[in-house]
Amino acid sequence: MWETLRAHHARVKDRRFEALVDTDRAADFSAHTGDMLFDYAKTNIDAEGRALLFDLLDQTGVAAKRDAMFAGAPINETEGRAVLHTALRNLDGGPVMVDGQDVMPDVLDTLTRMERFASDVREGDFTGQGGKITDVVNIGIGGSDLGPAMAVKALAPYHDGPRCHFVSNVDPADIADVLRRCDPTTTLVIVASKTFTTIETMTNARTAQAWMGETVTDTGAQFAALSTAEDKTADFGIDPSRVFGFEDWVGGRYSMWGPIGLSLMIAIGPQAFRAFLRGGQAMDQHFKAAKWQENLPVLLAIVGIWHNQICGYATRAVLPYDNLLSRLPAYLQQLEMESNGKGVSMDGADLDVHSGPVVWGEPGTNGQHAFYQLIHQGTRVIPCEFLVAARGHQDDLHHQHQLLVANCLAQSEALMRGRTLEEARAKIADKFTGDELERQARHRVFEGNRPSVTIAYPQLDPFTLGRIIALYEHRVFVAGVVLGINSYDQWGVELGKELATALQPIVEGRETTDGKDGSTAALVEFLKRNGV
Ligand code: F6P
Repeated sequence: MWETLRAHHARVKDRRFEALVDTDRAADFSAHTGDMLFDYAKTNIDAEGRALLFDLLDQTGVAAKRDAMFAGAPINETEGRAVLHTALRNLDGGPVMVDGQDVMPDVLDTLTRMERFASDVREGDFTGQGGKITDVVNIGIGGSDLGPAMAVKALAPYHDGPRCHFVSNVDPADIADVLRRCDPTTTLVIVASKTFTTIETMTNARTAQAWMGETVTDTGAQFAALSTAEDKTADFGIDPSRVFGFEDWVGGRYSMWGPIGLSLMIAIGPQAFRAFLRGGQAMDQHFKAAKWQENLPVLLAIVGIWHNQICGYATRAVLPYDNLLSRLPAYLQQLEMESNGKGVSMDGADLDVHSGPVVWGEPGTNGQHAFYQLIHQGTRVIPCEFLVAARGHQDDLHHQHQLLVANCLAQSEALMRGRTLEEARAKIADKFTGDELERQARHRVFEGNRPSVTIAYPQLDPFTLGRIIALYEHRVFVAGVVLGINSYDQWGVELGKELATALQPIVEGRETTDGKDGSTAALVEFLKRNGV
């Protein structure tokens, strides 16, 4: 099934796709949902290639798997679980059945409890020993951190609740930096962990407990927990009234729509949080209903597959020209790489294509002054994904926003067009002549023909953020189905965790390095000589 696409690629790979790009192509190779536009005209995908990619979706049963996911089937086969983060934003979508039971009453009940608690914190009805809560510290890692941390930053213009801080790293520098800025008597600590066993989170939670205990008499009263393991939250001493549970059919990296989003809800308020959920739900409905050619998650997925599995481009840069989305690349790294970074298909066989790409990025225009050099002139092609809002939130600085937009559009144009040797020569002909002109001109050549896509929207509000995140979630799902992998487990993180547990007593000096490889043993010795 991949062969036909590879053969097509071999036929078209050397052409300049710029020649294809006219107004008709811009209309044909773009799609809308509501007021959001996805443009993929600046790629080398043509109508034939797109049709072949759609065939791939049909051959791998994407539509049936999508319907199975929404219907609560256990599509996470290695863990025997349903995948139903979509239920968390199914505000008015009717019943969702898991094992014959409608999960929606519990989902909506937890949402209502979260809303009550968030309102109490925001309005001062829930207080700390010192009065109204001024600071919320979310302690979590991976999916229990990246989503809410990214979203609190993204929705800063809507933030009217207490300050929110995020502690994730077991490196004590992280928690120390946050706690020194907080007053323990007016701080709420949220321990966010699906399993409530993650060593980093539990270690930080105990550190926060000790910190608070130095000043506050009833520390437990200023802690809340977000977890599927409610028994473990009780062991930690958190009152059930401040425990917000969810089910194992919500994957960690897909969990910000439910209790894991509590810090976001406290920051922006329950109403704005609901708008975020409605955005996710709107994207779900679009994903379920739109034809392939108009379906944004599907189109984003096929462009990714074309670039990674067919063209062989190993990485993808996500470049938001929207500083509010500065944490989006980090969030997407987990979403995409933990979901689709796997070499074995669902049935245990080796993949016959590469796994998902390396995802990385930084907001524009900062990246332009750092790594864009390589994107434009390096020897490897890096497909770029631009995100841009028509309007920012600073009306008085709109001219500055226009400059930002011009930069975004300029980058995708430059990547596509490039600059020929003749053009480079002409630009500097007044400064150099002869061999020196040739030499200097060659440094100023841009190969061009480098693909990019652009996601554009009017303004980053809670609804649009919800649509963007759900768009990426479904894109990862579609790619996972086509690759034949399970996007919802993460066995690849286990080995490192096990070895860290085994190394801890060695690092602490309670055990020797006997049995360790020479390199690890030497590193331990060096660090011990230097005080670890
Ligand atoms: O180790 C990886 C991982 O399991 C992620 O999938 C998850 O988001 C993160 O750790 C945190 O897990 P938990 O929410 O259970 O603390």
